[in-house]
Amino acid sequence: DMLQEIKRLEDMFTVDTTKLKAITDHCVSELARGLSKEGGTIPMNPTWCMGFPTGHETGTFLALDMGGTNLRVCEIRLPEEVGEFDIIQSKYRMPEELKTGTADELWGYIADCLQQFIEYHHEGEKLDQLPLGFTFSYPATQDYIDHGVLQRWTKGFDIEGVEGKDVVPPFQAAVAERGVPIKLTALINDTTGTLIASAYTDPEMKIGCIFGTGCNAAYMEHCGEIPKLEHMKLDPDQLIAINCEWGAFDNEHKVLPRTPYDVIVDKDSPRPGQQAFEKMIAGLYLGELHRLVLVDLHENPNVKIFEGQDISALKKPYSLDASFLSDIENDPYENLQETHDRFESLLKIKCTKPELELIRRLAELIGTRSARLSACGVAAICKKKGYKTAHVGADGSVFNKYPHFKARGAQALKEILDWTVGRDGKPLGRGNDPVEIMPAEDGSGVGAALIAALTLKRVQEGN
Ligand code: BG6
Ligand code: GLC
Repeated sequence: DMLQEIKRLEDMFTVDTTKLKAITDHCVSELARGLSKEGGTIPMNPTWCMGFPTGHETGTFLALDMGGTNLRVCEIRLPEEVGEFDIIQSKYRMPEELKTGTADELWGYIADCLQQFIEYHHEGEKLDQLPLGFTFSYPATQDYIDHGVLQRWTKGFDIEGVEGKDVVPPFQAAVAERGVPIKLTALINDTTGTLIASAYTDPEMKIGCIFGTGCNAAYMEHCGEIPKLEHMKLDPDQLIAINCEWGAFDNEHKVLPRTPYDVIVDKDSPRPGQQAFEKMIAGLYLGELHRLVLVDLHENPNVKIFEGQDISALKKPYSLDASFLSDIENDPYENLQETHDRFESLLKIKCTKPELELIRRLAELIGTRSARLSACGVAAICKKKGYKTAHVGADGSVFNKYPHFKARGAQALKEILDWTVGRDGKPLGRGNDPVEIMPAEDGSGVGAALIAALTLKRVQEGN
């Protein structure tokens, strides 16, 4: 019956403290393996962003942010004043068809948006080439900061002919074709941008995270800890930002408590076998997991939810998104009236009271698992670097909008890292968590500009 079923789902989706610790410990060794000469499953991509900003960066930069949902173009001015910036920006929709279209369509669309931005904001001006920081939030191998070979598409993108190639030349070509006066100075990841932008105003910032359509983090590593860069004879104390691409953690399925629904999400994705960790956490997949469970329960003769109803709308893959789950968890009515109405209007399903309760509990379970597993990644970086205290800058729709995500993540961190007192030595619970995940500065704008500025400075100084 329904109660029994809820219990079964609870068992399946709950990750207890012991498991969180085991996942974290495995993640610590996988982070190191990614930095080794042999390499590992987690890419641990060197970004050639060498160290934190000083606050004295200056200049005017463009930033282009190609995220999963939006395309954003910003112009950022870093004035002489330490830690200050001015920003203007325009948002463009990232059409869904583009994600599975052709490479020419993708680069053409992005270049068109850049061109529109410049025409709008600099009408009639004669411009010198503006330096651009391009936030390209997919795993890329970089030998230089202004190049990047796409390792593989993630977050549901599937555009042929881009993987395994440098993404900069076709991008530059599309831009040049339109006569847009820009020069790509730095190709960056959204996590690196988040880290750098947050560190610009907060010296305690150690890690940049995205909890959005995808899930990932970047942190500063010492070159001496990166055997795979040994041949470059870098100063072992030199810092370099590493884009972990931790979404790929445990693609071998050694520790993550995958459910049959996670297996289906993976199997039906454009890149099966990839991004095991991300597929259990990130916004792109949360609604889909929920949907798969509901369909399964409808078909299960022992449970029979939505009995006798036409569930064809629910059967459509990815018909529920993370904001749908957010709304369920946020339903202010005790009788879950809003959820009831949403199911009726969106899915043409009339839910009974017990069904609504199951739907709500399932959203809680999926949302809680996402937050708790995310915490393992953060804890793993802290353990690897020996950080007893740290600020972690986070961005993305799940972090910013999903109910209780922050509190659930903080609770998990506390369990994993065995805190007994706060960072100030006083009892916990006064906003004094030793490791605190906080909303980041706008990483893809300010971060991209700062990294472009740091890069130009380095080039001028001849390093
Ligand atoms: C935005 C950042 O705020 O968050 C992007 O500007 C980042 O760079 C994005 O990619 C991630 O969130 P989502 O939810 O859009 O994937
Ligand atoms: C995916 C991408 C990664 C990005 C993350 C968050 O994991 O592979 O590059 O940082 O999503 O957007």
